[in-house]
Amino acid sequence: MPTGHKYSVDPSRLDGVTDEPLFAAVAAEAANQDIPAFAIGGYVRDRLIGRPCKDIDFVVEGDGMAFAMTVAKRLNAEPVHVFKNFGTAMFMHGDTQVEFVGARKESYSRNSRKPEVEPGTIQDDQQRRDFTVNALAISLNQGSLGALVDPFGGILHLDQGLLRTPLDPDITFSDDPLRMLRAVRFANQLGFTIDPATFEAIKRNAKRLEIISAERIHTELNKIILCDTPSTGFILLRDSGLLAEFFPEFLELAGAEEKFGIGHKDNFYHTLQVLDNVCAKSNDLWLRWAAVLHDIAKPRTKRFEPGHGWTFHGHEDKGARMVPRIFRRLKLPLDDQMKFVQKLVALHLRPIALTKEEVTDSAVRRLLFDAGDDIDALMILCRADITSKNEKKKDRYLKNYELVLQKLKDVEEKDRVRNFQPPITGEDIMRAFNIQPCKLIGDIKTVIKDAILDGDIHNDRSEAWQLMLATGRKLGVEPVVLEDK
Ligand code: CTP
Repeated sequence: MPTGHKYSVDPSRLDGVTDEPLFAAVAAEAANQDIPAFAIGGYVRDRLIGRPCKDIDFVVEGDGMAFAMTVAKRLNAEPVHVFKNFGTAMFMHGDTQVEFVGARKESYSRNSRKPEVEPGTIQDDQQRRDFTVNALAISLNQGSLGALVDPFGGILHLDQGLLRTPLDPDITFSDDPLRMLRAVRFANQLGFTIDPATFEAIKRNAKRLEIISAERIHTELNKIILCDTPSTGFILLRDSGLLAEFFPEFLELAGAEEKFGIGHKDNFYHTLQVLDNVCAKSNDLWLRWAAVLHDIAKPRTKRFEPGHGWTFHGHEDKGARMVPRIFRRLKLPLDDQMKFVQKLVALHLRPIALTKEEVTDSAVRRLLFDAGDDIDALMILCRADITSKNEKKKDRYLKNYELVLQKLKDVEEKDRVRNFQPPITGEDIMRAFNIQPCKLIGDIKTVIKDAILDGDIHNDRSEAWQLMLATGRKLGVEPVVLEDK
């Protein structure tokens, strides 16, 4: 049943709308050409609830593209970009993106596979939209200028915070199954409830998501991940059966097994809590993705070890190896963003593991070296991962976490290893020993890097040069250049 949501509807927010230059221009052209025109969709919804919105969609009962040209001309807002396939035309008015379309009898979807649509009336158009709250329109026509056109109870549902389809939900969702994900996204973004009959229809139709491209799915999923508390969205995705269709690995996290009276935590809820925690600290989509995936391999590495209890050894490495597969399937970007997520998943245990022993400078230097510029993001993830319900444990972890944070700062200031560049290059080694490229060069470089990270020598060229000479000799090559010039 509808619960309270964070927005309140105020119809007076529409007052004066037709005096605003864009709307006035549309109304003037509508009168001139005797073509009914309306503002519609997300803009009307957002304006009524006082939420900012930078896109405005208009529908006309006629040729939307030709109409857009005349409005743009009137406003000096050319050029107009025409998308013939979709029958839409777009121009910029200041920093507002304005789009026009002719009213249609068929479903409204930007990615409709059937671009050839029959012209229709405003009501035809409204009923083929996704939700009643997204089907609200403002009349820009003489006689009803500025009036709300709301044949499906959209304003009531907006007030109740209710997502309901204008038609039988089975029809609305078969027109475009992506709308099922949109329902979850809007519920999460706006704090709305999905109407029970609509939700039942999502459960019935979840399998239809298979005809939707991975790109459209990940666009909605990313919008859910970018919400303030995405856990709400993920729980709806699970309960509706949608999650199983495109992200089965995440579903595998659910459940808490017990053996001999020893249980482990439910990693589905744990992950969601980590995700919400990260969201309170960062808006970065990819850091949020790292939270989503940090424990993804736990189900696949789970063992019960007698005497120890449940273990998930190696879940960070296996998880990091699962990242590219998941990104590839969802067609998420495979370059820097994927590598960042993979790195964070691989390293997510390191900062806390550090605190199990004495926090040595050398361990901190290695962590800084491995994390590089992503150390701050890693520390946010690591802090978010402390979710123990045992207050004593939680306190201890948090204290240790603060200790690592302080140590990181100290070592960073002292040694600057975050963007460590080896002071001796392969070229230097070849010159010093007069040798060709070979494995020995890598071995000498590793000895120097380890000595610096362990604090045996400073990150300094002349100390490294001496160590290079000594290491080469130990490995059986005699230097021909003794001085670094
Ligand atoms: N729409 C629809 N079915 C879809 C996508 C869109 O019925 N699959 C309709 C809705 O009326 C929606 C309008 O097209 O309000 C504009 O779509 P879009 O810009 O994607 O959504 P908004 O509602 O504006 O919300 P947001 O900008 O947050 O995505």
